[in-house]
Amino acid sequence: MKRITIAIDGHSSCGKSTMAKDLAREIGYVYIDTGAMYRAVTLFALRAGLVSEAGIDEANLRRRMGDIAISFRLNTETGRPDTYLGDECVEREIRSLEVSQHVSRVAALAFVREAMVDQQRLMGKAKGVIMDGRDIGTVVFPDAELKVFVTASAAIRAQRRYDELRAKGEECDYDEILHNVEERDRIDSTREISPLRQAPDAIVLDNSHLSIEEQKQWLLEQYRRVAGEE
Ligand code: DC
Repeated sequence: MKRITIAIDGHSSCGKSTMAKDLAREIGYVYIDTGAMYRAVTLFALRAGLVSEAGIDEANLRRRMGDIAISFRLNTETGRPDTYLGDECVEREIRSLEVSQHVSRVAALAFVREAMVDQQRLMGKAKGVIMDGRDIGTVVFPDAELKVFVTASAAIRAQRRYDELRAKGEECDYDEILHNVEERDRIDSTREISPLRQAPDAIVLDNSHLSIEEQKQWLLEQYRRVAGEE
């Protein structure tokens, strides 16, 4: 099998990362969750008081970008990579509703995107990588050999996120989550820079009615088909 680049884009909370992580583990590829990178920048900005309901202090966030060191380290218990901000594991903190409510606006800033895209290209330079996000097949790796665009209805995605937060023991409200999912879709798809859109050569996967296992099999077949080609 040749080593390829796999780009997985799509709407928020549609199970992209679960299927991408599982495939990476199975075929020994590096998995990069680019949404986690934008979330880590948002967490940093919230903690530094640079993001609030009132807006974003863009000048100071731009100035502090060099202080934001994001990395992924393998968690030997889960077999999956955890997100680190400096030396702190922030895997749990970056999934909070507070970060979710601000991340789309932070991810819409040109200087934030430029810094993240540069890092993502470096991380994927050697191929053998599965990257998930919004602009991987269109901007980060337009030459990726396999591009998948994942989608599911907003109601189903909100239910999944609700179940996920409840399973972690967090208090949450379904309507608030649904509103957040729809709002992020709107911001992600209408922003000026690198909006969420399907690359012309991407394969669409609507997983509204697929189980995690079915998605996993589907992705594995796509990988074998593309990586097995001469
Ligand atoms: O996939 P996610 O929900 O963790 O992504 C968090 C936010 O980051 C989402 O609102 C869109 C943004 N994002 C982006 O703009 N570009 C990416 N490549 C990945 C995520």
